[in-house]
Amino acid sequence: MPAATRVPRQRYPCHLACMSSSDRLLTPRAASQRRDFLKQLGAAALTMRLPVNTEQPASALHTSVIPVSGERVPRVGLGTWQGFDAGTNASRRAELQECLRTFLAGGGTVIDTSPMYGSSERVLGDLLAAEPLRDRAWLATKVWTTGAKAGVDQMEESLRLLRRERIPLMQIHNLVDWRTHWRTLRTWKDDGRIRYAGITHYQNTSIADVEQVLRAERVDTVQLNLSLDEPDAVRLLPLCQERGVAFIANRPFGGGGALGRVRGKPLPPWCAELGITSWAQYMLKWILSYEAVTVAIPGTGNARHVADNLAAARGPIPDAAMRTRMTTHWRSL
Ligand SMILES: NC(=O)c1ccc[n+]([C@@H]2O[C@H](COP(=O)([O-])OP(=O)(O)OC[C@H]3O[C@@H](n4cnc5c(N)ncnc54)[C@H](OP(=O)(O)O)[C@@H]3O)[C@@H](O)[C@H]2O)c1
Repeated sequence: MPAATRVPRQRYPCHLACMSSSDRLLTPRAASQRRDFLKQLGAAALTMRLPVNTEQPASALHTSVIPVSGERVPRVGLGTWQGFDAGTNASRRAELQECLRTFLAGGGTVIDTSPMYGSSERVLGDLLAAEPLRDRAWLATKVWTTGAKAGVDQMEESLRLLRRERIPLMQIHNLVDWRTHWRTLRTWKDDGRIRYAGITHYQNTSIADVEQVLRAERVDTVQLNLSLDEPDAVRLLPLCQERGVAFIANRPFGGGGALGRVRGKPLPPWCAELGITSWAQYMLKWILSYEAVTVAIPGTGNARHVADNLAAARGPIPDAAMRTRMTTHWRSL
């Protein structure tokens, strides 16, 4: 699709677009208290196993636009690397079921997986099948092999494991044999088996290779590491905006190590202005402060962490000045 026919990004700040009208009338503190109350109400409903409203989550998450289509997705999703590699372990699967339930009931939709992540695709497919809100899940997986036939076989197997005839997004994992798979993904898009074709990488040293592909092809989504600890991919964000590419931020916590480093350290008092109550939210809101970031996909298999992460997609989003303050403080820790 030529760039000119792509849907332009929204013109007003995402946090205003997505705040409820009643929130806009409140001071930030009062709005935050109101949202906390609604969150607690939602959590209580989950604990008491009250029937879940399948139409509207208790408090809407900020969304962003996928440039190629205009479709909106919530700005915090869920990654499944390691956390969902539970095999047949029943107690682990029960925890992950709670995790998915919290995610979907909390308004989350985007879930990222890969055939590279052990049993994650199978576990995700099995657990989603038992979820009343399963149709909310917006699934993204990857092709991670060489050769056209091997690629098709692997993608067919992914769909079988995920129990879907079609999924929104298929990505070429780490650019492995990308030219071959790119041809297949175009066919799959034409056939309606996927809506979007994307590329991913996990190494900052490969950002230049990713950039070349973004310039050469009409890529719908790109997934790269992006966090306060690994900010290198920030330099690709203007190109993504120019080319109409949705940006998916993976490893938002640097694989978890970044959160480990700040565990036990107090948040700076000014975080209250942003409604930030945890370091995870601090790291995610920093990422979401970049308007070109479509969605961040923190990996977790813990329902409490899911709720914590989703909270980053509510309330104020930092502006550029606040982002600089956050970066400076982070570096001083
Ligand atoms: N395309 C690629 O090459 C590529 C590479 C890497 C990752 N990815 C994708 O990106 C996703 C995210 O990356 P990642 O999982 O490697 O790293 P990450 O999201 O940066 O960190 C995950 C770690 O953070 C912990 N965590 C999550 N939420 C937390 C919270 N609120 N409080 C405290 N700890 C929290 C998790 O532990 P708990 O489970 O205990 O919560 C886990 O140990 C992956 O799951 C995967 O889907 C893609």
